[in-house]
Amino acid sequence: MSLFVNPAVLEQTFLPKLLKFREEQHKYLAECIKPIFEGRSGSNLLISGPSGIGKTACTKYILRELLENTDNIMPIYINCWKRDTSTKIISEIARKMDIRLTEKIFSDELFDRIIERLGKYDGVVFAFDELDKAKDYDFLYRILEDVPYKTVFLITNIKDIVTKMDSRLLSRMLLEKVEFRPYNFEETRQILFERQNYAFAPNSWDYDASEMVMRKAYDARDIRTGLVLMKTAGELANNENAPKVLVRHVEKAMEKFENLGKSKLDDFV
Ligand SMILES: Nc1ncnc2c1ncn2[C@@H]1O[C@H](COP(=O)(O)OP(=O)(O)OP(=O)(O)O)[C@@H](O)[C@H]1O
Ligand SMILES: [Mg+2]
Repeated sequence: MSLFVNPAVLEQTFLPKLLKFREEQHKYLAECIKPIFEGRSGSNLLISGPSGIGKTACTKYILRELLENTDNIMPIYINCWKRDTSTKIISEIARKMDIRLTEKIFSDELFDRIIERLGKYDGVVFAFDELDKAKDYDFLYRILEDVPYKTVFLITNIKDIVTKMDSRLLSRMLLEKVEFRPYNFEETRQILFERQNYAFAPNSWDYDASEMVMRKAYDARDIRTGLVLMKTAGELANNENAPKVLVRHVEKAMEKFENLGKSKLDDFV
């Protein structure tokens, strides 16, 4: 019998119904897009902070709410690690807007088609995640110039990314800033405990093993570390038909990830 009842909850793509301890940030992001509902442009926001503390989750949460509440404002989320040039980003926006990319057309013309298509909406909310991985910012310039009613969220680990941006871009953006701080121990524990309860059958975790995961995630100041450890330790316990996840499973899972950086972790979650 498997210890997992709902393993999808531990995946990176899983977005919880409620995002605990991010109420303030959620409110800030919501305020930024509010003017679009009133026929104006919203505020543009730089969201920064270290890894695994809910920047992406909070942004996607807002975009999901938008999608659920209106058909008139278009949410567009782009991961700039996966699409790291303006050409790729513009193509991805076109793809998301169902603009067919059959013939080879230049970015400029493609962008014109995007603008035309966006004209059907009251506004657009763009989120450019992992922005520090983008190799150029021409796409931003075009969006700021040509999309009338919008909010742009820029998400990054590196706060001073703005120092690399052209002053003409910055003066068009008037970026507000919000910095996400890591969760404290109790918050880390509650977030991970909730995920554990959804993902695993009741009583699947030895208390000490569970605390070890929470502690490790808190030490790393990274929820993702906790999720990866939980998933891996759970799989190890499952493979040996153990009745519970024990400390030794967590220790083994920790050995596996000892020397891995964030990009590697992402491959696992
Ligand atoms: N408040 C929270 N409640 C529930 N889950 C959370 C919360 N904050 C973060 N998480 C979960 O932790 C994981 C990491 O969060 P997220 O992907 O948002 O990190 P990030 O800050 O964007 O990190 P990075 O800079 O590495 O991209 C996700 O699986 C997310 O669902
Ligand atoms: Mg992220």
